[in-house]
Amino acid sequence: MKKVIMPFLMVLLLAIIPFVGVAWARLDYLFGVILPYTAMVVLIGGFLYRVVDWLRRPVPFRIPTTCGQEKSLDWIKQDKLESPSRAWHAAARVLSEVLFFRSLFRNTKAELHEGAHLAYGSTKWLWLGGLAFHWSMLLIVIRHARFFFIMVPGFVDFLTDADALFDVTLPAFYITDALVLAAITFLVLRRLKDAKLRMISLPTDYFPLFLLTAIVVAGILMRYVAKVNVMPVKDQMLRLLSFSFDAPGEIGVLFYVHLFLVCVLAIYFPFSKLMHAGAIFLSPTRNLCNNSREKRHVNPWNAPIKFKSYTEYENDYRDKMKKAGLPVEKQ
Ligand code: HEM
Repeated sequence: MKKVIMPFLMVLLLAIIPFVGVAWARLDYLFGVILPYTAMVVLIGGFLYRVVDWLRRPVPFRIPTTCGQEKSLDWIKQDKLESPSRAWHAAARVLSEVLFFRSLFRNTKAELHEGAHLAYGSTKWLWLGGLAFHWSMLLIVIRHARFFFIMVPGFVDFLTDADALFDVTLPAFYITDALVLAAITFLVLRRLKDAKLRMISLPTDYFPLFLLTAIVVAGILMRYVAKVNVMPVKDQMLRLLSFSFDAPGEIGVLFYVHLFLVCVLAIYFPFSKLMHAGAIFLSPTRNLCNNSREKRHVNPWNAPIKFKSYTEYENDYRDKMKKAGLPVEKQ
């Protein structure tokens, strides 16, 4: 249980820091200017560092995972997604993975039944929970664009209106707020409920989940409960975007909790499992074409090998071959 409690306490402690820092120590400048800039530098620098590091790794051979008919004779139908042979097939496959979590859809679970019977079954819950979580998060982040643009782009307004379809609260209730909370709860409970999963789960699996929960809860409280005036928030974000180092105006302390946790997430991101967001695009098992039969891929760092032709071989060993009674081409 320690590996669940520790990250939980850590997030709790992190949430208290800006509370104390702003409400008591009046460190608005640190939390509203210095930290956001620092976090952005670490996020962008760290992300680029990781991506460039991956890009520099040699990938000499084709190692795509395939589970469909590869490109063969004209009259044999190729499965372009499962066994891509062109760059655009592979790109479509990566995109379908990124947007719809395609391979997770085929997720199976193995269960041991009485009499040592191993049974495999389909399980779509992780796919559904993961999809709901990532899509809600994306929509929430896109909706936040209203804090970063003087003129909010039209599609952001459209998405915001669609999200607020169930206009049952004041301010309007967002479907994604409920969805993201439900999805995170599912993702945490999934790890806790299953003994096998509990065993392989690490504090680094729980920490991002708890951190995101805290960010979302602080946001929800700001919107529906302890309502924060968003105008000074927008002013501050526009100032930060124009690289101004002016001090922030009067903003409720809950906002600083929200922002501080987002900064922690940004700093943590490049050095954590969350980098799967960038890694998925660079994964050789997904982004390579399966064209080893069509094209010879030579390992570029192979030491040069001097090959011997059969004639040379026979010239070297002819006498020994004759002695051993082996047939030779030239007497
Ligand atoms: C990972 C990034 C972030 C996540 C996941 C997140 C999440 C949320 C959520 C779930 C809400 C509840 C209301 C809603 O859905 O709009 C919210 C509200 C809010 N967030 Fe964020 N947020 C993030 C980053 C930020 C940043 C960088 C700012 C800085 C401007 C910010 C400012 C606010 C404000 C002011 C509200 C209250 C909105 C209102 O009263 O309508 N958030 N956030």
